Amino acid sequence: MSEERLALFGGEKAVTIPYVEGWRRITEKEKQIVSEMLEREEITGVPEVVREFEKEFAEFIGTRYALSQCNGTSTLLAAYFAAGVGPGDEVIVPSYTWHASISPILHNNAIPVFCEIDPHTLTADPEDIRRKITPRTKAICVVHMWGNVVKMDDIMEIAQEHNLTVIEDCSHAHGAEYDGEKVGSIGHIGCFSLQGSKAMVAGEGGIVVTGDTELYERLLICGHYGRIEGDLVTDRYRHLAPPGIGYKFRAHPLAIGTARVQLSRLAELNQKRTANFAYLDRELGKIKGIEPLTVYPKAKRGGFYGYRLIYHEEEVGVPRERFIEALKAEGVDVSPCRYMIYHLHPLYQGYNFHGKGCPYNCPHMKEYQPPGEGSLPVTEDVYRRLLALPVFTEPPEGLLEQYVEAFRKVVENIDQLKTA
Ligand SMILES: Cc1ncc(COP(=O)(O)O)c(C=O)c1O
Repeated sequence: MSEERLALFGGEKAVTIPYVEGWRRITEKEKQIVSEMLEREEITGVPEVVREFEKEFAEFIGTRYALSQCNGTSTLLAAYFAAGVGPGDEVIVPSYTWHASISPILHNNAIPVFCEIDPHTLTADPEDIRRKITPRTKAICVVHMWGNVVKMDDIMEIAQEHNLTVIEDCSHAHGAEYDGEKVGSIGHIGCFSLQGSKAMVAGEGGIVVTGDTELYERLLICGHYGRIEGDLVTDRYRHLAPPGIGYKFRAHPLAIGTARVQLSRLAELNQKRTANFAYLDRELGKIKGIEPLTVYPKAKRGGFYGYRLIYHEEEVGVPRERFIEALKAEGVDVSPCRYMIYHLHPLYQGYNFHGKGCPYNCPHMKEYQPPGEGSLPVTEDVYRRLLALPVFTEPPEGLLEQYVEAFRKVVENIDQLKTA
């Protein structure tokens, strides 16, 4: 086989088709619903459209309750509050996630205890969760990263054994399933971001679901001034109305109007992304040193907030950064993962939040041991191997084939990178 010159050294680029995402997030239908709501001046409170959306979303997920909020971060803060997470408690959470899965634990005055991820699925490792349980553990938060579903039967088994609340962060995985159940309905509370780059967008927004009346009532009193009295199911918390505990997490009605239309398009979007991801997984998986994410046998991916690959430098022969440089020169939109691993962030190293010693108002804080470098070896190792590619919903004809060709070309001609 004759050597092909890599684009980095002046050869022809493997990717010649410009990447333009065909999928339009905002269509005439979104514009229409927002304009109708504006006409009716439905710009605050909880108009019918919001109630309809919550009903439809709860039905779609398969939970009794759904509550719209201003963003995904607030759904997590409310979820921890609802679960009774408070001073002295620990919550087990992966370090590899978005910060919003973790920082709300602090703001409920509790301690995040970081767990490993499985290095092939990038989702919370049930065995490591088991190892991290102490008498103070109150809840587990798992994240369906990039739409790839957590091994939920193991998680629920652990939770049942230790009487823990499971919070599913489903912000990357709208419509994903495990064993035929939608994510968000398997744990005790499911949190979804509806931010503008997610699989279902409100622009800024979130929605939290649960099947449990007590949890729902606690979600309500956490952030829903104005609807607490009317929406409480029992009298347990009625004395706290109208303000509840005082946050305001109500969603903007126009954002929720947008999300309502998006729910009707989700199945089509998931179908397209499923086909494109399956093609890339199959074809890129044939290339030496490139590992697509493993999907658990009972899992069905959905949402697909991003496409990640695991890079094995020891097989390919050059450091990840050099490989990325060569791929970029070929025209591939590729980068290291923009998400962080949070156990090494200053906030979790005992950061002096209020000038009073530590960020946490937790009785056990004096015993807190910051999780240092090397404390999550699996997470730290796989994080350094990640390659991030765009979500391809409606890529132009031939683009995915060119991407695969670019990977193949760089790997097969890797010697050029070694000698240069
Ligand atoms: C895993 C995860 N959880 C929570 C959030 C927070 O959502 P929001 O930006 O709507 O507050 C995000 C946002 O990207 C996320 O990726």
